[in-house]
Amino acid sequence: MSDSFDVIVIGAGPGGYVCAIRAAQLGMKVACVEKRATLGGTCLNVGCIPSKALLQSSEHFEEAKHKLADHGVQVGSVGLDLARMQARKGEVVSSNVKGIEFLFRKHKVTWLKGEGRITAPGKVAVNGEEYAAKHIVIATGSESIPLPGVEVDEKRVVTSTGGLELEEVPGHLVVIGGGYIGLELGSVWRRLGAEVTVVEFLDRLVPGMDGEVGKAFERILGKQGMKFRLKTKVTGAAVGDSGVDLTLEPAAGGEAETLRCDVVLLAIGRRPYVESLGLKEAGVELDERGRVKTDGHFATNVPGIWAIGDVIVGPMLAHKAEEEGVALAEQLAGQQPHVNYGAIPGVVYTWPEVASVGETEEQLKARGQGYRAGKFPFTANGRARAMGDTDGFVKLLADDKTDRLLGAHIIGPDAGTLIAELALAIEFGASAEDVARTSHAHPSLSEAVKEAALAVDGRPLHI
Ligand code: FAD
Ligand code: NAI
Repeated sequence: MSDSFDVIVIGAGPGGYVCAIRAAQLGMKVACVEKRATLGGTCLNVGCIPSKALLQSSEHFEEAKHKLADHGVQVGSVGLDLARMQARKGEVVSSNVKGIEFLFRKHKVTWLKGEGRITAPGKVAVNGEEYAAKHIVIATGSESIPLPGVEVDEKRVVTSTGGLELEEVPGHLVVIGGGYIGLELGSVWRRLGAEVTVVEFLDRLVPGMDGEVGKAFERILGKQGMKFRLKTKVTGAAVGDSGVDLTLEPAAGGEAETLRCDVVLLAIGRRPYVESLGLKEAGVELDERGRVKTDGHFATNVPGIWAIGDVIVGPMLAHKAEEEGVALAEQLAGQQPHVNYGAIPGVVYTWPEVASVGETEEQLKARGQGYRAGKFPFTANGRARAMGDTDGFVKLLADDKTDRLLGAHIIGPDAGTLIAELALAIEFGASAEDVARTSHAHPSLSEAVKEAALAVDGRPLHI
């Protein structure tokens, strides 16, 4: 036996590394096992951070090419240096992952480099060495879901990982799946010049989000040039020398057709990753969808083995994983933390952005909850007009009897930042009137939030 710890966390993504740091802050002796060459997990290496770097760079490109002239800014001819854009993305990732190494050193978290395997409760093997721990935390994240008939080679048929690494702008990119990844990376490559077609199985985009927002999102992205094939499934992909031939069929069944493209991005969701962890041997149960089964307090069925993040139930989001990491560490230290799953925002970082927290109108209807809706368009917001960014609206949903905020849905400029106020409002159990009576700076986009709150009571001032 090499060494023993209070806690060994397996996986150094936002769930695992945050759990390790918080446990160390609370005085525990902590190790974190990571098999990737760098810390930070999917999010920092091949997810949140590189995708946001490319979204930012490609938006600058689109602004320079198509938007600045309207503001009276002449930039002459605009060129694309994709190699530089990709190199910058690499620099952003590298500085972030090194930051986690620094934090591990600062908090005295030991990084055990290699693949971790649970050999028995309280024991983890890494590179042939066995370590003991009072508590083992599974934070091994997720991987992209494969589609039968569509073989990924990460060159012509890519997941998000290959989709972040393309060295040339594809002539025609087909995205399978109209969710977070498809629309974010689809936006990146459309802005850089690709023709982009999104093939979605359902009759709408971002299925988990509010229906009205989904419809507006489709219209706005359509106006930007993205094409959609809804209610359609892909049944095969044949890679040839000059492109990929995709076979499409109506989702409900019917005549097949062929769609030719240069690159295919497969983005139909992610699934828990538990390969080579030794869960079966350790007796850790999975649920019907392959997620590590937990009891609502991160405990698996095996005492001393816990799980957090993408590998368990709930939205596959970095900040959800982080909240769970903190809560579990505090729980192991004898505290009584709580994660409010009703107040976790979701943001699609396209432009405009789409952001949501709490329940959708469809969810309220389905559970028979009476509600009042207040909506305010960015066309009536002075700051949005000054920016030249008037697409979208804020929509708030409040209990029809108590006025308590139940859901907030925004499509518009900086929606991902605006939603924070509403996540806080929901966390504090605020009413729509609380938001409406709060002074919001003028002229700011946040005034659209205040106006939507006033609209819940039928008294917006600027429409
Ligand atoms: P992960 O980040 O997946 O980390 C798990 C780690 O465990 C990995 O590094 C893996 O190598 C390691 N590991 C697995 N098994 C072992 C083992 N046996 N031994 C040692 N190490 C192991 N979420 C957001 O909130 N905002 C975003 O903008 C966003 N953008 C995204 C963009 C893309 C393209 C993708 C793919 C995802 C994005 N996500 C985003 C989702 C986010 O990345 C995940 O929700 C988050 O990373 C989950 O964190 P985690 O700690 O559970 O797992
Ligand atoms: P997703 O679940 O967001 O979207 C998948 C889409 O594919 C859905 O619209 C679904 O209906 C569709 N689909 C499923 N099977 C299909 C099929 N056979 N053919 C056509 N369409 C099909 O999953 P995505 O985009 O892969 O992202 C995975 C997860 O990663 C997200 O759910 C999210 O949790 C996380 N993520 C978060 C981001 C953010 O917070 N900004 C950005 C990127 C990813």
